[in-house]
Amino acid sequence: MTDKSIVVLISGSGSNLQAIIDAIASGQVAGRIAAVLSNKAEAFGLERAKTAGIPQIIINHKDYDSREDFDLAMIEAIDTYAPDLIVLAGFMRILTAEFVRHYQGRMLNIHPSLLPKYKGLHTHQRALDAGDAQHGCTVHFVTEELDGGPLAIQAPLNIHATDNADSLQLRVHRAEHDIYPLAVEWFCADRLSLSVSGAVQLDGTTLPPEGYQFIQE
Ligand code: GRF
Repeated sequence: MTDKSIVVLISGSGSNLQAIIDAIASGQVAGRIAAVLSNKAEAFGLERAKTAGIPQIIINHKDYDSREDFDLAMIEAIDTYAPDLIVLAGFMRILTAEFVRHYQGRMLNIHPSLLPKYKGLHTHQRALDAGDAQHGCTVHFVTEELDGGPLAIQAPLNIHATDNADSLQLRVHRAEHDIYPLAVEWFCADRLSLSVSGAVQLDGTTLPPEGYQFIQE
């Protein structure tokens, strides 16, 4: 099996990108990151890509009149790398239906909540405000519904009485660095896929709606 070609999209720090770079370097993931694309020139993740010798693409959304034009420019740039997998790692732009359809079944996202709870922003505070016993993060396939695609892996964490949004964010972020490389590992090994009916399959078995549960505490 040849290594899968991966394009990672970022807007910020890129710690999830780093976790995937490290997982490839250690041999966990049978893939290679063909390029890292950022919509922000100052994103620290671009430095991480440079250090790892990965080509960087900067496409500033502000240079485009419409979301459609921006997404078309991204597709054009991304497809020169013939990617098998698109990894959204803190990419802070809403994608058009056309972009999502173009990469249907081969685009993953990570979200800092136990989806379907808390789509969108401020997830840690919302989990605390709701008095939830658990919080966590989710890797899912991307569909046209924002943070609404079928779930691949979840890492649930117990919320402690002493937790605040910052402490939760820190622990959730650490869990992200475990489950995102794992999902990418499985995808690159042809173990994880999205069926035509929209079900997530791991090793040929359909996962439950909450995805594979990664338990660590
Ligand atoms: C993560 O919390 C991820 O869940 C969300 O954006 C953040 C990206 O963090 N989608 P980083 O840039 O990978 O450090």
